[in-house]
Amino acid sequence: MQLQHNISLKAYNTFGIDEVASHFVSVSELDELKAVLSLKDYPEKLILGGGSNMLLTQPQDKLVIHINLKGISIEKEDDNHVYVKANAGENWHEFVLWCLKHNFGGLENLSLIPGNVGTAPIQNIGAYGVELKDTFISCNAISTDTLETITFTKEDCKFGYRNSIFKNEAKGKYVITAVVFKLTKAQHKLRVDYGAITSELSTQGIKTPTIQDISKAVIAIRESKLPNPKEIGNSGSFFKNPVISKTEFEVLQQNFKNIPSYPVSENEVKVPAGWLIETSGFKGKRFGNFGVHKKQALVLVNYGGAKGSDILKLSKLIQKTVLKLFDISIEAEVNVL
Ligand code: EPU
Repeated sequence: MQLQHNISLKAYNTFGIDEVASHFVSVSELDELKAVLSLKDYPEKLILGGGSNMLLTQPQDKLVIHINLKGISIEKEDDNHVYVKANAGENWHEFVLWCLKHNFGGLENLSLIPGNVGTAPIQNIGAYGVELKDTFISCNAISTDTLETITFTKEDCKFGYRNSIFKNEAKGKYVITAVVFKLTKAQHKLRVDYGAITSELSTQGIKTPTIQDISKAVIAIRESKLPNPKEIGNSGSFFKNPVISKTEFEVLQQNFKNIPSYPVSENEVKVPAGWLIETSGFKGKRFGNFGVHKKQALVLVNYGGAKGSDILKLSKLIQKTVLKLFDISIEAEVNVL
């Protein structure tokens, strides 16, 4: 364990924002993590996972703790299922590929999502009809206060759309150290109903897909519309898709005949924020070294050297414009720091 001072966080956030951390430490053992959490000289701490869901808008004075706990193990298994435990610092996509290599099913639709295993439950990552909660069994977390290890079951986590207890009442109180998933070894439950997957598989001429085929299709779809953070800095969807009442939706339909929606409940629908932003005229708009991605309006991008504060200003302008045009508030999905 080595405490560093005044280091750039550029390589630690997928937006590629160059802000400085006054104090930084990377931990790869549980004991190290506990020791760092108990450092009295640094009462305020910032837990950093894969840095894929944050926008840095200023220098960070807290002690930044980079969670680098590695390891994947099989907890138990029977003929049909396997319980796999992955430590928090494992890269999410590499973990998905590890599962696919072993022919363990359940995470294939979540291929190529940036970030680490330990931060995936915080926002209940989801894509192409599947959410983390569908295979999640439990996670271990250390209390930042008492340093006790606590196990959170699926129920404890109170998962919702891009939401969990870790974004609400448990926010800042725990560091997730490992996650256990229940995956299939046989009779995989394939989720191909999300439109883009069906058409991608048929383009490839695949009629009876395997979990590996689904992963490849998801990777192809994501690569076709989402920018690779290694090439263009971004944090995936910057906003959540807003949920509105059916009554509000019907009013909007009178002015916007093509407004898309997904069903949520008897009285509510989800409207793609990407459509609202595109219709507000922002898709592909570039403002110097930052802007709105040209293929998916939900994604804000750093073309290189942008300030997080400028991207934040753009996000506020988008929110204001969408509110004015549609009377809908869109909420940021990324953490603004
Ligand atoms: N759309 C537009 N213009 C755009 C983008 C989208 O009109 O620029 C409309 C289209 O009608 C399109 C619909 O939105 O059919 C849905 O688009 P897409 O399939 O890309 O999904 P999304 O709702 O925009 C969500 C997630 C993504 C996830 C995809 C696929 C959120 C906030 N985002 O996006 O997650 O990959 O579904 O399941 O729920 C992420 O969280 O970082 C992320 C990329």
